[in-house]
Amino acid sequence: MNFLEKRIQQEGSVLDGNVLKVDQFLTHQVDAQLMQKIGEEFAAKFQAKNITKVITIEASGIAPAVFTGLSLGVPVIFARKQKSVTMEDELLCTEVYSYTKKVTSTVSISSKFLTPTDNVLVIDDFLANGQAALGLSELCQKAGATVTGIGIVIEKSFQSGRELLEKAGFDVYSLARIASLENQQVQFLTEK
Ligand code: G4P
Ligand code: NA
Ligand code: NA
Repeated sequence: MNFLEKRIQQEGSVLDGNVLKVDQFLTHQVDAQLMQKIGEEFAAKFQAKNITKVITIEASGIAPAVFTGLSLGVPVIFARKQKSVTMEDELLCTEVYSYTKKVTSTVSISSKFLTPTDNVLVIDDFLANGQAALGLSELCQKAGATVTGIGIVIEKSFQSGRELLEKAGFDVYSLARIASLENQQVQFLTEK
């Protein structure tokens, strides 16, 4: 087990509906030291790829994305789920449907932060059905930027996200891959 899998095993709990609760260190309270290590792991993996921007979606993607940007020495952009009052610029928008929450939200970023010369690393806390990552890649596409990789903190490998993203041609790198959350037990892919 790697450092993150150990932490999930120790502090994660499984809720009904195949949901993993990790609010002690990732989705509510944030362990900054752990996030720093996560950022370093993503940076090491994508170091040679000339990444110019890291992009994520609010809220829980921001912490791992910021530490990844720190490690790579590049800016971090988070897509917004609601329009900010200060967003007067031209916006790039796309729709993201959440199977978990059964809602569609319009996510957006200001077009001034992404250009056709950007090599983008997409970071998110969870990969379930892949809709958030796909939406972020659509925003990059609209800007003419290249998505160079996708870094995921926790992948629920029993859901369809990875397959969807790989079929679309993306290089997906997940720090923890969960094979199953059945019977309230976290089982990692590597254990199988
Ligand atoms: P998808 O993007 O892969 O298609 O995932 P989905 O719509 O199913 O997930 C919707 C939201 O639920 C996302 O957060 C995602 O990070 C989160 N999520 C998915 N599976 C789990 C899980 O097992 N545990 C936890 N804790 N979260 C999960 P969000 O609502 O878009 O954003 P945020 O504001 O909570 O970050
Ligand atoms: Na979340
Ligand atoms: Na997220």
